[in-house]
Amino acid sequence: VNNLKKEWLGTPINELNRMPQCAPPLSHLKAVPNHTITVRTDLLREGVVPVPYPTKFKDAWDDMSVKMPCSEKNLFPMETEDGSSVQSRWELIRTALKGGFKSSLDVRDSILRYNTAHTKRWDFTALNLLCTEYLEPCEVQNLFEVILPAMVDLALSAPRLCTMPIPLLKSRRNHSLTLSQEQIACLLANAFFCTFPRRNSRKSEYGNYPEINFYRLFESSSPRKIEKLKTLLCYFRRVTQTKPVGLVTFTRQTLNNPPHWESSQSQLTRLHITSKGAIEDDGYGMLQVDFANMFVGGGVTGHGLVQEEIRFLINPELIVSRLFTEALENNECLIITGTEQYSKYSGYAESYKWNDSHKDETPRDDWQRRCTEIVAIDALRYRNFLEQFLPEKITRELNKAYCGFFRNNANRKHLSAVATGNWGCGAFGGDTRLKVLIQLMAAAEAGRDVAYFTFGDAELMKDVHKMHTFLTERQVTVGRLYSLLNQYSTVVCKNCNTTRPDISLYRFIYEKAYSPTPTSVLDSAKDSG
Ligand code: AR6
Repeated sequence: VNNLKKEWLGTPINELNRMPQCAPPLSHLKAVPNHTITVRTDLLREGVVPVPYPTKFKDAWDDMSVKMPCSEKNLFPMETEDGSSVQSRWELIRTALKGGFKSSLDVRDSILRYNTAHTKRWDFTALNLLCTEYLEPCEVQNLFEVILPAMVDLALSAPRLCTMPIPLLKSRRNHSLTLSQEQIACLLANAFFCTFPRRNSRKSEYGNYPEINFYRLFESSSPRKIEKLKTLLCYFRRVTQTKPVGLVTFTRQTLNNPPHWESSQSQLTRLHITSKGAIEDDGYGMLQVDFANMFVGGGVTGHGLVQEEIRFLINPELIVSRLFTEALENNECLIITGTEQYSKYSGYAESYKWNDSHKDETPRDDWQRRCTEIVAIDALRYRNFLEQFLPEKITRELNKAYCGFFRNNANRKHLSAVATGNWGCGAFGGDTRLKVLIQLMAAAEAGRDVAYFTFGDAELMKDVHKMHTFLTERQVTVGRLYSLLNQYSTVVCKNCNTTRPDISLYRFIYEKAYSPTPTSVLDSAKDSG
């Protein structure tokens, strides 16, 4: 009876593991072949801005590293009287940005001076509208006199701050990259001014990487763009006012040996499920799931504004992952540890609004990273509802989630819980009741509890809690559940002529798991279907 009013069910959230309490001390931070660190680890101190390493800018213009705007090899074709020649593009960028801006038109003109090929195509309507219609006069003045000049200085300090070549996190390679928050701010200021070379066309050598230059953020008159710009300008205001002092680690993780799902003897772990709250607020200290696109960040620099894009906007350091993270393959994820939240927001998608600056008080670990761990896992997009019940699709999603949740050499009792929700069930069209089971199975196999946020869906909260209780009490293993999902696919979905299955997944599981004898009404479903 009480369940009708309850806002949460299952294990109380405070019984689940969170960082930093749950984890043992970190090993000493040290650069190794599969971990690039772009600061002096020996000089790392709490509250002190990390020192870039090496001291002098090391230029790399190869297919293993990010091509930097300040590279000597970044050249710009020039027409002169005696034919054509080339000029340093970085010099051009410096001159263009140093000229100062009095209005958004000056910002546009500067950006186009070193992006001449896009003069016709790039549109700065949103930036213009923000300055002319949405901001107060004093805010506009602050933008042009304080924030933008500071952003220019930050962008132009790239050769002093980002001295080490930034490795590309390429497919099928496990690699970690630790940058300072100050270096990230510098890279993002460059992204804002669209200085990254070879990144303005999908057909270029970076075709399998997300977009990084922010030109799409400035286009169109959609209110979405206004709110996105406000959110990002809040970040730039903050980091130019006070230098951030922490580090952030980006880890690309590939799963080479997926579990044998059919024979798994794992039992489900504990579940806290709630219809209130959000992953980023109530899941602090947990492994927080980013409902990602294979191109991490999805539409954050474009039109998109759902779970992933919102997270990237309020924690903008996530956006820099787009500079170096190749599209995720089926068995890969990106783990980002240490990003800071700079903004508060309300609404979602069309109703999203930047509300205010946010002071993040998440404690830092011994590597000076905020104890905020986010994992980007991209679900499959379904246009046809039944497709997701195919065994190979279920297995793909299980492996994707498991890749995100699994940690090598970790003792289960030290692992934080997974904070997740309707992964793949919004823009990507998945079924919440199937996806929650997939995530519970992956979490069980990885040895982690789950905090699940249904995003206001009280019905889902009750259904899932009931199913979880049923499976736990009957000690249904992950392997048994996997075979039940496969049976559902062959018995119910394969023979279904309509767009939705005629027997619900949960009803099927209840009946099959209650009576393993082949006398159930469900066995004849294919004849009557
Ligand atoms: N906390 C908990 N649950 C949430 C939150 C939140 N902060 N925000 C949304 N939800 P969606 P997808 C719930 O559509 O289907 C992006 O463009 C809410 O119920 O963002 O995996 C990516 O870049 C929502 O409907 O994820 C990809 O291209 C559901 O989570 C694509 O969307 C799914 O959120 C991924 O789409």
